[in-house]
Amino acid sequence: MRHLMNPLDFTVEELDSLFDLADDIEKHPDKYAHACEGKKLATCFYEPSTRTRLSFESAMLSLGGQVLGFSDAASSSASKGESVSDTIRVISCFADICAMRHPKEGAPMVAAGKSGIPVINAGDGGHQHPTQTLTDLLTIRALKGRLGNFTIGLCGDLKFGRTAHSLIEALARYSDIRFIFISPPELKVPDYITDMLHKKNIPYEEVIRLEECMPDLDLLYMTRVQRERFFNEEDYVRLKDFYILDTNKMSLAREDMLVLHPLPRVNEISVEVDDDPRAVYFKQVQYGVYVRMALILTLLGIKVAE
Ligand code: NCD
Repeated sequence: MRHLMNPLDFTVEELDSLFDLADDIEKHPDKYAHACEGKKLATCFYEPSTRTRLSFESAMLSLGGQVLGFSDAASSSASKGESVSDTIRVISCFADICAMRHPKEGAPMVAAGKSGIPVINAGDGGHQHPTQTLTDLLTIRALKGRLGNFTIGLCGDLKFGRTAHSLIEALARYSDIRFIFISPPELKVPDYITDMLHKKNIPYEEVIRLEECMPDLDLLYMTRVQRERFFNEEDYVRLKDFYILDTNKMSLAREDMLVLHPLPRVNEISVEVDDDPRAVYFKQVQYGVYVRMALILTLLGIKVAE
């Protein structure tokens, strides 16, 4: 039985097959409309989410399956003190596959160790968010036509942003990628990530000003400053509007640069940018459904005949 805890759990070749499947789902949705009939997906969300949970639910429903679950810890037995290991054993009797989000790093991994069904990490604290990364990679592949051979800027909260951590690790396996990390000094990317890049001889720069690097970028990955991960409100207030991508800054960028964002957006991208064809964050949400459909099929071992 296979789980997904980290994007690196899949080899680059396995990811290619997953993305090919997602492409086919996009082109021929009817072919997959009954693929998961009789199967159930449990969404166990101990931390708030709209798009990730609904994206999983939409994916399972589009495959003809059914969904059950809870959307915050208060409405689950965690509020009575139940451990994730016990919860997943119970859920294993109710569903065929589980997507779990948890504020504690590693909780979905602990659950997977006791689970009778495949577990998907839907975000664990400030650690990893593999299905967002699959979404990001599919979006880049579909809209840029390649994974590799580009300069990507990641901007915002690179310290706590799990989407950024997962994406950097995943992209580090492709060739000719140059990273530019754009953050205030307080929200720099963690050392374990820059150590990994050093070891692999992958070029990266750390800068504070977004304007400085705009003309160099093929891709710009904006992220939210995550209030819930700060220890004090003052630091959050000081840093929350550090970056605001607006049409002026966009005018410094290449014609074919793409702007991605895992969403939710707060102030870091001004709404006027939404009309720019280079802003693809809402398209990204749609790719997220296709890739989660492909992932559910893959982890359940379901093949759809031609
Ligand atoms: C992200 C997350 O939860 O880490 N959102 C998402 O899943 N699309 C990013 C965020 O919350 O800022």
